[in-house]
Amino acid sequence: MMIAFNFNTFFIFILFLIDLSFASKSLVPRALHGLRHSAAQQTHSLARDLRIAFSGILASRADSNQNVVYCKPGKQVPFAAGASGNGNVTGPAGANTSGTSQRVTVTATKTGPSPTASSSPWKLISSYQGNSFFDGWDFFTDPDPTEGIVQYIDQNTAVTSGLLEINSQGNAVMRVETTPVVSGNRRSIRITTQTQFTGGLVVMDSVHIPTGCGTWPAFWTNGPDWPAGGEIDIVEGVGDYTNDQATIHTNVGCTLSSSTPSVLDISGSIVGGTNCAAQTTGNQGCGIRAATNNSFGSGFNSNGGGVYAMKWDSTGIAVYFFPRGSEPGDITARAPQPDSWGAALARWPAASCDPFKFFTNHSAIFDTTLCGQWAGAVWDTAGIPGQEQSCAQRTGVSTCEAFVRANGAAMQEAYWEVKSVMIYQL
Ligand SMILES: *[C@@H]1O[C@H](CO)[C@@H](O)[C@H](O)[C@H]1NC(C)=O
Ligand SMILES: *[C@@H]1O[C@H](CO)[C@@H](O)[C@H](O)[C@H]1NC(C)=O
Ligand SMILES: *[C@@H]1O[C@H](CO)[C@@H](O)[C@H](O)[C@H]1NC(C)=O
Ligand SMILES: *[C@@H]1O[C@H](CO)[C@@H](O)[C@H](O)[C@H]1NC(C)=O
Repeated sequence: MMIAFNFNTFFIFILFLIDLSFASKSLVPRALHGLRHSAAQQTHSLARDLRIAFSGILASRADSNQNVVYCKPGKQVPFAAGASGNGNVTGPAGANTSGTSQRVTVTATKTGPSPTASSSPWKLISSYQGNSFFDGWDFFTDPDPTEGIVQYIDQNTAVTSGLLEINSQGNAVMRVETTPVVSGNRRSIRITTQTQFTGGLVVMDSVHIPTGCGTWPAFWTNGPDWPAGGEIDIVEGVGDYTNDQATIHTNVGCTLSSSTPSVLDISGSIVGGTNCAAQTTGNQGCGIRAATNNSFGSGFNSNGGGVYAMKWDSTGIAVYFFPRGSEPGDITARAPQPDSWGAALARWPAASCDPFKFFTNHSAIFDTTLCGQWAGAVWDTAGIPGQEQSCAQRTGVSTCEAFVRANGAAMQEAYWEVKSVMIYQL
C-alpha cells in the first residue's frame, strides 16, 4: 500500500518534470523579457515555479509517510523566558487624525530603560511606524515584473481608493482592490524603502499578511542589477500557505553550506537545492520553509501576527520569526540582541556565500501580487502546509486569473497590516 502510493507519487512527479521542462522552454523568452526590466528589480522568474511545483510534490510525499511534518512545537520559541518584562513600549502612534506627519523616533516610543538597551551593537538607521509609516517609501507603479494581474498604484491613488491607510490602531494597511468583478488587473500596492543598506538588521512587526487563493504577498529586500545585488525574501508564500518560505537569490558562487537543518542551526527545512545562483539554476534560489503554521497566512493572522527579523552581517544572512506573544524583550525595547534569539528560521552562512559580495545596497519592499509566476503557476498544486487542497479544488475555478477577476470579495483578506519596520546597522 505504502509502496504503491509512493510509486504513484513518484510517477506523477516524473510526469510533472517532463511537463514542466516543455513549459519552461516555451516560456523562457518571457522570463528573459522580464529580466530586461532591471529598473523594475525583477525578482522571480518563471523557473521559480518549477521549483515550487517540485517542492509541492515533495511535500506530498513527505505527508504520506508522516502525520505531522510541519508542526513541531517548541522549535520556534527558543526564548520564552525574558520575552516580556523588558521595557514597556507604548502602543503605536495612534489614528491618522493629524494632517501633519511626524516621524516617530525610537526614544519617543520607550517608556523606560531596558537592561539590554545600552548593550545592543545595532543602531537604528530608519524607522517606519505610526502616522508617518509611509514616509520614506517609493510607490512602484510599473507593470508587475512577476506577471501578476495587479496594477500597482501611486500613493495618492491608493489613499483615495481606500487601499492605503493608517488605521485606528496606528498600523499601516495596504490592501488589494475588492471590486466584485474586474476585466483586467486589480489595484494593489508595492512600496520600496528609499533607505538602502549593505549589511543590517531589518525588523518587521505585522499583525496581518495577505492570504487566500490567488494572493502572493512578500516582504523582502533587493539590490541593484538583479541578481548581482542579491535578493532576500523574508516573508513570502502564496494562496492559503501557512508556513513562511524565506529564500535568497544570487549571482553564481553562493551556496548553502548544508541541507541539514541541525547543521545550519535552523528550525526551518530546505525546500529546494543548495545552489543559490539565480541564473544557473533556473532561479531556484535557496529556499527554507518555516516549521510552524503560525508564520504565514491565516495561521499568522489568527495568532495576531508576529515579528520577522532579517540579520545580514559578517556571519551571513539569517531570518528569525517570533509569533505574537513571544517577541524577545530586546526587540520591543529597540535594542536587538540577535545572539540571544536562539535558532533562526533560516540561515545562509557566510562560509559558502559571502554576504558582502553577493548582496549590496538593498532596499526593503512590501508587495502583494495576484496570480503570476508563483500563485498562478501552482493553482492546481496541493500538499504545502495550509494548502492541503489546491486552490483549483477549493474554489472550483480552473484558473487563478478567472477566480481573482471574478471574486473581489475573496480579496478581503489580501491585506498587509504592519505595526512597524525598523532598519538597524552595526
Ligand atoms: C505598560 O504600559 C501600559 C500603558 O501605560 C500599561 O497599561 C501597562 O500596565 C504597562 N505594562 C507594564 C508591564 O508595565
Ligand atoms: C493621513 O491623514 C492625512 C490628513 O487627513 C491625509 O492627507 C493622509 O493621506 C493620511 N495618510 C494616510 C496614509 O492615510
Ligand atoms: C496548525 O497546525 C495544527 C497542528 O497540526 C492544527 O491543529 C492547526 O489547525 C493548524 N492551523 C492552521 C491555521 O493551519
Ligand atoms: C552602492 O551604493 C554606494 C553608495 O551610494 C555606491 O557608491 C555604489 O556604487 C553602490 N553599488 C552598486 C553596486 O550599486
